[in-house]
Amino acid sequence: MKIQKVGVVGCGLMGHGIVQIAAQGGCQVIALETEQSFLDKGLSRIDGSVKKLASKLVEKGKQSEEQAAAMVETTLANITGTTNRADLADCDLIVEAIVENLEAKTSLFAELGKLCKPETIFASNTSSFPIGEMAEASGRPSRFVGLHFFNPVQLMRLVEVVRTENTDEEVFNAARDFGTACGKTAVSCKDTPGFVVNRLLVPFMVQSLLMLERGDASREDIDAAMQLGCGHPMGPLTLTDYVGLDTTLYILQGWKERYPDEAAFEVPKILETMVAEGKLGRKSGEGFYKWDGDKKA
Ligand SMILES: NC(=O)c1ccc[n+]([C@@H]2O[C@H](COP(=O)([O-])OP(=O)(O)OC[C@H]3O[C@@H](n4cnc5c(N)ncnc54)[C@H](O)[C@@H]3O)[C@@H](O)[C@H]2O)c1
Repeated sequence: MKIQKVGVVGCGLMGHGIVQIAAQGGCQVIALETEQSFLDKGLSRIDGSVKKLASKLVEKGKQSEEQAAAMVETTLANITGTTNRADLADCDLIVEAIVENLEAKTSLFAELGKLCKPETIFASNTSSFPIGEMAEASGRPSRFVGLHFFNPVQLMRLVEVVRTENTDEEVFNAARDFGTACGKTAVSCKDTPGFVVNRLLVPFMVQSLLMLERGDASREDIDAAMQLGCGHPMGPLTLTDYVGLDTTLYILQGWKERYPDEAAFEVPKILETMVAEGKLGRKSGEGFYKWDGDKKA
């Protein structure tokens, strides 16, 4: 089973990147948004991103100007935008990248389940919800996987391909091959909270917050320790500022509710307090550090 026509639902931060890499990988892609203005914004981001990639390839001597121009033209020609769900009916694969809200996702999949041809494979890019719950809602649990890409999609080399107990082997293989065709390294994982990356990363961030809360070490020393002692590109508190304190809190609260006995999913008080104070990290200008746009102030 080869994926040739892909629908991507949501053309925001993650969705626009998924549309782009799928189109670069040679798929015909339909990008679906709720409103024309959101769609235009997503498509214009893709336009800028593909052109930037092309000029980098030329600059590095990896492609001639003609080759790069052809890459831009082919990629953009592979993409069609729409605000009409019915346009996704004959896709081989649909990747959902809408807001992290389980009800929004399950109702979308319930509708897509009725709308799409029986062979269509469904995938969610969720970071924190069980794939199995969306698979049930879609009415076709054997044709459902998680395809968890990372931000920024165009640059991060990993995709986690998540299978539930009901995922067909051929469906899993087709989804994994799609990830590879998009230029990513695919790792496979069961439908377990946080998959591989977030299951390890979020509790690591939590432990750094608990250390700060107890006064074990300063924020600068915690970050420097993990950068210089473990070779991490940024420390866990800076990382939490990047991810967003609110996003981190929502993920943890969701896990805690579902798995109340899992000690690794403890919600640090400091996180609740700072979110209540509007200190959300880089996006709000203050979290564990003060931010001036993308840089620490
Ligand atoms: N942001 C990250 O770093 C990151 C990383 C990995 C996975 N994710 C996951 O990816 C998903 C999307 O996150 P994001 O950061 O791109 O969000 P975002 O808010 O940037 O984009 C979501 C887009 O979906 C659109 N949308 C909402 N409902 C829709 C519907 N019913 N039909 C069509 N479009 C709809 C919105 O208009 C918006 O443009 C979430 O599930 C998130 O957990 C995010």
